[in-house]
Amino acid sequence: MTSVPWYHKTTIYQIYPRSFYDSDGDGIGDLQGIIQKLDYLHELGFETLWISPFFSSPQADFGYDISNYTDVAPEYGTLSDALQLIDEVHQRGMRIVFDMVMNHTSEEHPWFKESRSSHNNPKADWYLWRDHLPSRAERTLSEGEVEVEAKRHGKVPNNWLSVTGGSGWHYAPERGQYFWSSFLPFQPDLNYRSPEVKQTMLDMVRFWLGKGVDGFRLDIFNYIYKDAEFRDNPFSFKLFPSEEDYSGFFQESKYTVNLPESFEFAREFRNTCNEFGERLSVGEVTGGRKVLRKFLGDDTNNGLTLVFDFAMMNFKFTAEYFHKLIREMEEHYPSPFMPVYVFSNHDRHRSIYLLKNDMRKTKLLALFQLTVRGVPCVYYGEEIGMADSRFAFATALDPIAHKFPFVPRFIFDRMGVLINRDEVRTPMQWDATHNAGFSSAKKTWLPVHENFPSINVEKESADQGSLLSTVRAVMKIRNREQALQEGSLELLGNLPNGVLGYARKLGNEKIIVLLNFDRQEKQFQFESSEYLFKLSSHDDATQKAIRLDGFGGIIVK
Ligand code: GLC
Ligand code: MG
Repeated sequence: MTSVPWYHKTTIYQIYPRSFYDSDGDGIGDLQGIIQKLDYLHELGFETLWISPFFSSPQADFGYDISNYTDVAPEYGTLSDALQLIDEVHQRGMRIVFDMVMNHTSEEHPWFKESRSSHNNPKADWYLWRDHLPSRAERTLSEGEVEVEAKRHGKVPNNWLSVTGGSGWHYAPERGQYFWSSFLPFQPDLNYRSPEVKQTMLDMVRFWLGKGVDGFRLDIFNYIYKDAEFRDNPFSFKLFPSEEDYSGFFQESKYTVNLPESFEFAREFRNTCNEFGERLSVGEVTGGRKVLRKFLGDDTNNGLTLVFDFAMMNFKFTAEYFHKLIREMEEHYPSPFMPVYVFSNHDRHRSIYLLKNDMRKTKLLALFQLTVRGVPCVYYGEEIGMADSRFAFATALDPIAHKFPFVPRFIFDRMGVLINRDEVRTPMQWDATHNAGFSSAKKTWLPVHENFPSINVEKESADQGSLLSTVRAVMKIRNREQALQEGSLELLGNLPNGVLGYARKLGNEKIIVLLNFDRQEKQFQFESSEYLFKLSSHDDATQKAIRLDGFGGIIVK
């Protein structure tokens, strides 16, 4: 027995339910579809499934705008399908994690409809409501006058900017006031300074924990609290937000992001989970690594259990880059903390985009991600090397794509920013038949990527050298070798340029991983007793030397 909790040893596979498998032929993936594909995921070897939101929603942001947290959107199924899904996952010895959007609801949520209807309804303070120019208004004007003033001036309450650019304040004529949205206008932020709101949301979390859910991925968790006094954000020289610092558009996000109360809330959230035993909580949080670490608390039981560290999404495919990444992750998430290694999700480019479509590189990246010390988080389709599609912005379903109609596309391309997220949300490619085997519908909600005849599960399953076969084989080794799940990590020196090496150790067990990030073959002295996995590599008869092809890798014991 070890003392490492399951959520630090696990492997995560992210399912975007709309695009995974369509069981009823309406062109939209659904919960029964996921159930039908559980054996595939089980066989692939992932333990934890993170399901992007499938709750009731007008789908203006495809589920990240929830109108009922404890029911299921009809296109995905019913509450009983959700319970069946939990059950079927558990029957296979796997775990399931739901995606909780705590920061905001949909504008269609009955809470918001009530809240916006007047100044004095029971939910009047459930969202963040402000008069325009509050200091002057509060000093000199009556409520009725404020309303008239607000309409006349159209001035927003303060200088705060939303994540997606522009003011996040939106006017509601019924109240003559503005409400705050961190993200898009139809996603109003809840007011966690209302004890009732906090209680209601934590009870909702308890509802799902009580149904057996193993934990949560927490949507924009670091935005949940905003400054109590609504002070203006200070000026910053930064034009564009970055992974390390979401300040941007000439504004430091001091009073809107990563407030002390949000770290405190991480503790409260953890306590709520703890009422039900060991549950996973992984925060979608942004900021420098020191800030991210704070969400984990100061020991292992008073914060979230994991955080995403998105800076690595812009990785460079070199041994130096990954060497430095490991060093930094080990420094910031030393045991008993655990880092998460994630290279793509439903908001970012697929990893093969950064790898310039080179399949050999995707295999090496997978070998790295599944053997380094950390929880790997893999977006659906990454295991077969699905690629970004390229769609016209004008016809995009993603609301973000319509926010910048005048900016030419090449600017976003050059910045590495994904603006039309439809491009990474296309249907899973199961086989080479109609709609890549995703759906029997005439038309799917997004078109299938045109590369599906060659990039699909069936084809790659039959090919020993494919990415999918690589992922399967390495997952098998990881699931067997405890040292890979929870062992320490030591970076190796004295390797040829372009080769990254590390040892994973647990007790007397030691496993070594060697990865060639160079296109040139590398040959060097290396003693080993047993080869566990070879990716384009050759061992000579004496087992005293190793030869790695360009982009080859090896796991040895
Ligand atoms: C997160 C989600 C993204 C969503 C946004 C608003 O960043 O990953 O898909 O649009 O939050 O909820
Ligand atoms: Mg369907």
